Amino acid sequence: MLERVDKQRIYCLSILCLDMNENHLNDCPDWRYLLLECYELYRHLDSGGSDVIRSHQRKVREAISRSMKVNPEISIDVIADKPVTKHLKRAMDEGKSQAHVSMIRCFESIQEQLNWQYGYEKMPRGLEHKYAYAEICGPSGPVVSEEVILGVVLFAPGCIYPSHAHDGITESYICLSGSVSENNQGVYSPGSMIFNPPAHTHRITVSKREPALLLYAWVGEKDNLKQQEMVFSRKKSKQ
Ligand SMILES: [Fe+2]
Repeated sequence: MLERVDKQRIYCLSILCLDMNENHLNDCPDWRYLLLECYELYRHLDSGGSDVIRSHQRKVREAISRSMKVNPEISIDVIADKPVTKHLKRAMDEGKSQAHVSMIRCFESIQEQLNWQYGYEKMPRGLEHKYAYAEICGPSGPVVSEEVILGVVLFAPGCIYPSHAHDGITESYICLSGSVSENNQGVYSPGSMIFNPPAHTHRITVSKREPALLLYAWVGEKDNLKQQEMVFSRKKSKQ
């Protein structure tokens, strides 16, 4: 594992750091196209008639737009896999036949540069083989922004993602591949979005047959985004 990580890191840094003045978004088209896809997704996704969700979608795309305008730094310090990334190829193959194929293709082009993480101070038992997330944009990068956090989360088949909440953060997940349920209320497949207002406790279950790949977006006050950075506060389940 370590050897692979180091090889990938050398590969990536050799691309990004040939010229130290060029590690910005406009010099890394694959990352720029990925952010554009995220912007377009939040522009075209239907809000289902919800003014609250439409407002969230607008905030996300405006935050992406502001972030892109300043030609932000691209900061990639660590590249790492987790056990669940063995399911990534299947998730992306399945996603290519679904609603967000152009997003999957953009994601594929930068997948070797991702830092897959857990985000828990104390990992729930069994979750380390079935879950990981990788950030795309946020205060810690890879695309550095204080406006919005964007990332992808990958679940193995049958994963149960424990109840958690995000204080001061409004969250949405967009299903890119597979299918999930949140709080046992509805099933979300590619093309659908889950909306979680601040402090809303949510627990996700995943199809037992296929992995699931979700895009997530967080918006909130800059201080809240900086503080949270995907470290979950686990709350007692209200379900
Ligand atoms: Fe969440």
